[in-house]
Amino acid sequence: MKDAIDVPATDDPAALGPWFHNLHLPGGVQTAPDHRFGDFPRFKWLEIAPHLPADLSGWRALDIGCNAGFYSFELARRGAEVTGIDLDPHYLRQAAWAAGRMGLPVTFRRQQVYDLARSGERFDLVLFMGVFYHLRYPLLALDALARVEPRLMVFQTLTADTGEGGEAPAPPFDFEERDRLTRRDHPFMAFIEGRFADDPTNWWAPNHAGICAMLRSAGFRIEARPGHEIYLCRRDPAAAVWPAEEGEFRSAAGLPATHRTHASEKE
Ligand SMILES: C[S@@+](CC[C@H](N)C(=O)[O-])C[C@H]1O[C@@H](n2cnc3c(N)ncnc32)[C@H](O)[C@@H]1O
Repeated sequence: MKDAIDVPATDDPAALGPWFHNLHLPGGVQTAPDHRFGDFPRFKWLEIAPHLPADLSGWRALDIGCNAGFYSFELARRGAEVTGIDLDPHYLRQAAWAAGRMGLPVTFRRQQVYDLARSGERFDLVLFMGVFYHLRYPLLALDALARVEPRLMVFQTLTADTGEGGEAPAPPFDFEERDRLTRRDHPFMAFIEGRFADDPTNWWAPNHAGICAMLRSAGFRIEARPGHEIYLCRRDPAAAVWPAEEGEFRSAAGLPATHRTHASEKE
């Protein structure tokens, strides 16, 4: 899904509204000064920023679900070569327009996160913020994202706060011990049927242990927690489960099957 983005000829951000990102444009104009979350997402960026290299020259960065491009622009200011992807043409129009106002060379394109399974691209840094819980197929997205082999990833999701735990994989257990599955520290993801926060695209809310476990199984190690519901991850392919499930991933992602579809099969 890749379409050209038409950039409207206007000086007035209100003509492109409504805005989810409050961008601070040259001249002091803000795109969403009355945002219900405050100066969003600048206050989140201030938590994340110290954890990323100040100089991203030579880094390729991917901002998944870039919206109006707030984070893309911050990464570009640090010297990264940035691509922002989003499925919503309304937000991509805002992003492309704002890039022109700011004079920042960010590439924006209309793309689903799942398309990363087939893109063959590589990125050093991936921002995957505010998207996971909007997906019907969250693990497919994580596995697709792992294919771009980022050194670093910033992950953020809505959570169901049932406590901590999950820093290490749970020890193996059997049918008789199934009560473990309902413990507060067991990896867990609540399914949302119907509207949550007046948004029909909110589907899932994992707990902290669930986030740790899913990131681990997709090949990421959590290095820091810069803020509430925010995880800084480093790639750790040794922890990934997906190489063993190559056939399932390829089928789910619409990729042609390979001769060897499961780790148990010899080439
Ligand atoms: C809650 S906003 C988060 C925006 C930004 N990443 C942030 O953290 O401020 C979710 C964004 O993800 C986009 N999105 C939702 N599902 C997506 C998908 N399957 N692939 C790409 N983008 C998606 C939405 O259009 C929206 O712009």
